[in-house]
Amino acid sequence: MDLRALRALVGDRSVVDDPHVLAGVETDWTRRFTGHAAAMVTPSTTDEVAAVLRWCASEGVAVVPQGGNTGLVGGAVPMNGELVVSLRRMARIEAVHEAAGQLTAQGGATIAAVQDAARAIGWDYGVDFAARDAATIGGSVATNAGGLHVLRHGDTRRQVVGIEAVTGAGEIVGDLRGLLKDNTGYHLPSVFCGSEGTLGIVTRVRLRLVPQPTEVAVALFGFASVDDAMDATALLRREVTELRALELVLRPGVELVCREHRLPDPLGSPHAAYLLAEVAGPEGVFERFMTGPAGTLVEGDHVAVATDALRRAALWRYREAHTEAIARLGVPHKLDVTVPHEALASFVSEVGRVVAEIAPDAAVYLFGHAGDGNIHVNVVGPGPNDDAVDAAVFGLAARLGGSISAEHGIGRAKASHLHLNRTRAELVVFGRIKHAFDPAGIMNPGALLPVATPAS
Ligand code: MLT
Ligand code: ZN
Repeated sequence: MDLRALRALVGDRSVVDDPHVLAGVETDWTRRFTGHAAAMVTPSTTDEVAAVLRWCASEGVAVVPQGGNTGLVGGAVPMNGELVVSLRRMARIEAVHEAAGQLTAQGGATIAAVQDAARAIGWDYGVDFAARDAATIGGSVATNAGGLHVLRHGDTRRQVVGIEAVTGAGEIVGDLRGLLKDNTGYHLPSVFCGSEGTLGIVTRVRLRLVPQPTEVAVALFGFASVDDAMDATALLRREVTELRALELVLRPGVELVCREHRLPDPLGSPHAAYLLAEVAGPEGVFERFMTGPAGTLVEGDHVAVATDALRRAALWRYREAHTEAIARLGVPHKLDVTVPHEALASFVSEVGRVVAEIAPDAAVYLFGHAGDGNIHVNVVGPGPNDDAVDAAVFGLAARLGGSISAEHGIGRAKASHLHLNRTRAELVVFGRIKHAFDPAGIMNPGALLPVATPAS
């Protein structure tokens, strides 16, 4: 790769080939995917991104866009000497549109920066997840990230009002006028949401904000079985309009988190399953929650509640610390599936057996977003390239009418399994969409689309 030509486009400072720096972008967060990059380029304007991609297209240089490198499916890892494009120098919140309740950010801005800017003007951003301090808004649009508040506000796609993006051919497309109604043909923000860097690079985003709640409360409920937790999930979803999060954790995961993070058991006695419910709204939300249907779930030591920020964070830790605690055991296979609500309990009871048949010594931890029917199956034990457990778990989810990716995306980890959820006709159309945006085929090779995507 001719780095001199690249430097002439964006300046010396923006082209990195120091192996020590590159090491930080060559492995994903899980450590399951490691490759190597020829270099990393850090443009500081949209025009520079366009110039880089035009050059890459004409030279046939493969590109891997990378945001905060917090992805869990290997979707942003340079496996074969690609050029990494990072928007770390395009991380500004450009404007807050107070009256419209919207915000415009550069693609490299973190989720936490977006949240802070929204809160500073009395609004909030509808998406939140544990990697908020490192994950970028461009990356979260590209993966259509979900997170903890999907049941209330929807996934990232629902927050995006407009985007500016650079296609794989180096064209700048999209608009940031913030129009909520604009019925003028194909909706580019939808095309880029979930495109995983295979069509181009999201350089700027205009986001819809949500009202900031005056009061937030958290309750952690313990249950004797997953079935009981599922019954409570249905009740809370139906009855509690101020519900913002409804998360499931199981006893083995809670024990692991307590051990790894030196935390006390969350409730007075152990329980097979736990639901963490968060309510948010105008003053009195906690009172309304506890005197409403949730009150019927409260018995003896089966619940812990918190209203102040510190104690709420302490309860959230039993849920959010799962990711890190599991990663301490080894390299996890992160299998993020969603199944219809009525199939959730049978999926949870069957998946352990399905994994044990293939990898009897593997450790399996389940947790997830009960309110969305989204279970994170984490398997530690099989080697990074051993796909057999992944195939079996995805097969089970698909047989139950579910999806092999609820919110993490497809990346490189699941590309060869995409056929479980997408028909041949759909894959053909996907290939054509890809070609329209990226005619030279340089964008994120091997991610999302199976390598042998049918051409017709
Ligand atoms: C979560 O829900 O905590 C995230 O999706 C991360 C994970 O699955 O580990
Ligand atoms: Zn999740």
